[in-house]
Amino acid sequence: MAYVLTGIQNTGNPHIGNILGALWPAIQRSHDQKHTHFLCIADLHTLTAHKHTITNQQHTRAIVAACLALGLSQEKIILYRQSAIPAVCELAWYLSCFTPWPMMKNAHAFKEKSKHPSDINIGLLIYPILMAADILLYNIDQVIVGIDQQQHIEIARDLIGKINRHYQTDFTLPNPMFQQNTTIRGTDGKKMSKSYQNTIDIFADEKILYQQIMSMMTDSKPLAAPKDDTQCPIFALYQLLASEDEVHTLRKQYRQGNYGYGQAKKALYMCIITRFAVARERFKKYQKNPESIDACLENGAKKAQAIAETHIQKLREKIIGT
Ligand code: ADP
Ligand code: TRP
Repeated sequence: MAYVLTGIQNTGNPHIGNILGALWPAIQRSHDQKHTHFLCIADLHTLTAHKHTITNQQHTRAIVAACLALGLSQEKIILYRQSAIPAVCELAWYLSCFTPWPMMKNAHAFKEKSKHPSDINIGLLIYPILMAADILLYNIDQVIVGIDQQQHIEIARDLIGKINRHYQTDFTLPNPMFQQNTTIRGTDGKKMSKSYQNTIDIFADEKILYQQIMSMMTDSKPLAAPKDDTQCPIFALYQLLASEDEVHTLRKQYRQGNYGYGQAKKALYMCIITRFAVARERFKKYQKNPESIDACLENGAKKAQAIAETHIQKLREKIIGT
């Protein structure tokens, strides 16, 4: 039996990149009863950049509502808030004592974020250590993530390997599982991220969703010109959501010309509205019932706590000797 983990920060409402890159594959894979599946809302990671308590809590609830709306079953996935299991901080400390500091300073995500120096805090620097602790605390085998997280998984493997060698333990070296081999681009053409205000939020009101899609950046080819489907972010997203026949039709329209990006955006909008119609309705219902969301998180925390406890005890014994 394998232990499978997915994580998402509560930095905003989940967008189509999070959903296709991590949440949807995690929910799909959870139907595999042979494995134990975890979904962690990484609210301690979020604190590195977002410090408004009420907003963070609202975003946590929005993520849970989205997961439930997309069909997550509490019987099949342990859905929990990272902060509900404080042993993760203890473990992050142990791991930090095994981390050479240049490894953190040179991590891509840190380098990228420290280019915009509004708040470069130590939490941001040691972010990958906390993520490694998320993984080790549940002795995870497989981590479902978007490709942007590859380096974080490598760091986790490295640190867990160091613990194993030093204390002669046999904790698992986690493997990443990437659903998409590309990162989904946001409306501005960069990586779609809750932190960049470039998202497509499939649970937003129709008008907002429409505006988000209409704001997607494209090249400036005139209407009559044939378009390159292989380079177009609208097409890339459509391809992930529509049926084979629909994709085939859109490709033909792109290549023959006299088909504008505005039309392609409308096709993408209709595709999202249709494909997620049921989920969008369910999302609204969950949003109106925060008690059910909090109960779901409590239920998950109890299960996560029981599993975390056995591993932290083993690690404490080895590392501290108690
Ligand atoms: P964000 O950058 O939006 O704050 P998170 O850091 O919370 O997203 O990521 C949650 C999960 O979603 C991770 O597994 C991450 O790799 C995946 N993910 C985030 N953005 C994208 C994207 N644009 N394309 C594909 N997967 C993504
Ligand atoms: N760092 C991940 C991201 O930004 C979120 C995350 C935190 C995570 N802990 C995790 C992902 C554990 C997978 C496993 O996307």
